[in-house]
Amino acid sequence: MPHHSRLLRFLIPLCAILLPAHAAAHDPEQAEWSIAIHGGAGTLQRDAITAEREAAYTTSLQAALDAGAAILRDGGTSEDAVLTVITLLEDDPLFNAGRGAVLTWDGGISHDASIMLGADRSAGAIAGVSTIRHPILLARAVMEDGRHVFLSGEGAEEFAGDRELERADTEFFITPSRQEALERFRASEVAVEDDEHRFGTVGAVARDRAGNLAAGTSTGGMTGKRWDRIGDSPIIGAGTYADNRACAVSATGSGEYFIRAVVAKSICDLMLLSGMGPDEAGDNLIAEVEELGGSGGVIVVSARGETAFSFNTSGMYRGRADSNGVNEIGIFADED
Ligand code: GLY
Repeated sequence: MPHHSRLLRFLIPLCAILLPAHAAAHDPEQAEWSIAIHGGAGTLQRDAITAEREAAYTTSLQAALDAGAAILRDGGTSEDAVLTVITLLEDDPLFNAGRGAVLTWDGGISHDASIMLGADRSAGAIAGVSTIRHPILLARAVMEDGRHVFLSGEGAEEFAGDRELERADTEFFITPSRQEALERFRASEVAVEDDEHRFGTVGAVARDRAGNLAAGTSTGGMTGKRWDRIGDSPIIGAGTYADNRACAVSATGSGEYFIRAVVAKSICDLMLLSGMGPDEAGDNLIAEVEELGGSGGVIVVSARGETAFSFNTSGMYRGRADSNGVNEIGIFADED
């Protein structure tokens, strides 16, 4: 029996028994371009968020989505669209990436980021950097250099060297709300499982007019992280993946579980090998994460330009747009 047939025999029944998560898919009849973005998934109750705060998130997400969509509409690449969205969200202190990233146990900054292109599956990733204003651009530099895929810590900072990457002091990244969150965490007022200490990773996936897919993810990780902990976001296959034959994926949530379930690559495999759509494949992997004890979500764009969100939390900051006129932002699980 060919290898792929054996795999299908295993995958299809497995998919049938896994439970669906919150999901909403858009089938745009082969959109010429499409984009989906996220700003983190977690416990988000309507009555626990002020109208002002909800409006601030919506405005930020809409601005990032519109900037990415404009690039694709004008014939730009999925890579540029993803980088544009992520650099905007990295600068926005509302999100756990770049400026406004959560703080480490010692009160420092430790950014992780990755990017992957579906055309040739080139990829770049960095972890544990603290001086680069836009960590996603350092990940892109690693990809463009091409000798390695994943650099970390001092080595990644050294690699950044005299490349044209804007540097920033630690103070630039630190916000009072993240300092308060760290104080609560250190005083053990926040459980390790609590969403608050790891909320707000950002990511984007896109398909451009040429049919090329790209995915990127950027994060500060978890509040109070120690021992050079690295989550799923910079791990190609776990938090980020892109393959023109199947899909592009960016994940957010409890990184340890997303690593163990190899979420992003597995979604692409389900689509490639079983013919599943992005919503069903996303649901299956989020169900696996849940089964292991984790929570979070994914954004997916398929080779056909379909977009999907899947998450098992009460909310995920998200948005999507395509060439067929879709342009929407969502926060809570009951919004499609
Ligand atoms: N998903 C982000 C992290 O766990 O670091």
